[in-house]
Amino acid sequence: MALGLLDRTKKILSEEGSIYFPLIRSPEPDEIEAISRAGEIFVEPRKLPDLAPTCPRSVEESIEGKVPEDALRSLPKSYDIVGDIIIIERLLPEAEPYCEEIAKGLLRVHKKAKTVLLKTGKVDGPYRIPVLHLLAGEDRRESVHSEYGIKLRVDLSKAYFSPRLGFERNRVASLVRDGETVVDMFAGVGPFSIMIAKRRRSRVFAIDINPEAIRMMRHNLSINRLIGEVTPICGDASLISSILQNSADRVIMNLPAQSLDFLSAARQFLKRSGGTVHLYLFSGPPPIESAVRNFEARASCVGEYELVNCRVVKPTAPKEWIVSIDAKFKPI
Ligand SMILES: C[S@@+](CC[C@H](N)C(=O)[O-])C[C@H]1O[C@@H](n2cnc3c(N)ncnc32)[C@H](O)[C@@H]1O
Repeated sequence: MALGLLDRTKKILSEEGSIYFPLIRSPEPDEIEAISRAGEIFVEPRKLPDLAPTCPRSVEESIEGKVPEDALRSLPKSYDIVGDIIIIERLLPEAEPYCEEIAKGLLRVHKKAKTVLLKTGKVDGPYRIPVLHLLAGEDRRESVHSEYGIKLRVDLSKAYFSPRLGFERNRVASLVRDGETVVDMFAGVGPFSIMIAKRRRSRVFAIDINPEAIRMMRHNLSINRLIGEVTPICGDASLISSILQNSADRVIMNLPAQSLDFLSAARQFLKRSGGTVHLYLFSGPPPIESAVRNFEARASCVGEYELVNCRVVKPTAPKEWIVSIDAKFKPI
């Protein structure tokens, strides 16, 4: 390199105890002598393979010169990756006309990704399924996502799934102890339930109202090796609470738009001796204070409790966040 001889477009090869360095020309005798000081060398004509073209390190780098400056400045700051699918939450008006170029740029940066989708509507309806529009790559919504040692097959057009809750699922799963009974009231394709049963000899009742989510959850149970037991239940969690009443040590409530409406059902699931509720809710500014205020207004009618933890999980819109609340309900 110091002599300016190295051909950076070709691969360096290691073969039969020697290392082959590609050179841009034959070295002069004094150059051979200089290199020899580093070790025994020989020079031979040989064709070394080309280096793979270096992939761009950022979307900005990958589309530079192909879109105007103001579009470059308006690129999304973050996006979700579910298995090999990239999901863009929203695009600013300056970037919108270049959405396909941006999507192709994302595929050049993320070599393993095969599809880029854009969320075009609000996550809505009882099953919380987003509307996703294809921007680039293969036209599909199904993939296998891995997080914290579990695998999840997800069809984003049929059931809700967000990779952004991975940290939260790991946090809650690490609080569960062997022997506990857990009710996952809004379980989706099973990420909380499966992560818990992967680590603990616990009993998990995983409820969801969406039959497609339950079908995927059953598949996900079959592709993960678990030490706990997960029972998928298709139905309305508020109705199931009278069947499974006073059985749980812990209840997970991941339905941020409506979780507060289900607090009395959650208390019904918990043992008479009490237990912990992990509740997720949307909150305005300031996120923690406003979430705690809304929780307290509803929870005090349900039973005596102690607030154990409260944290911001993720921003969801300007001045809107998902906040998690852990509350320990006292015996009744
Ligand atoms: C925000 S998603 C959470 C899914 C899952 N916990 C996760 O982390 O991916 C909420 C889920 O609640 C389900 N759901 C909505 N209303 C329900 C109800 N009354 N009873 C049971 N499940 C319900 C939806 O079908 C959806 O899968």
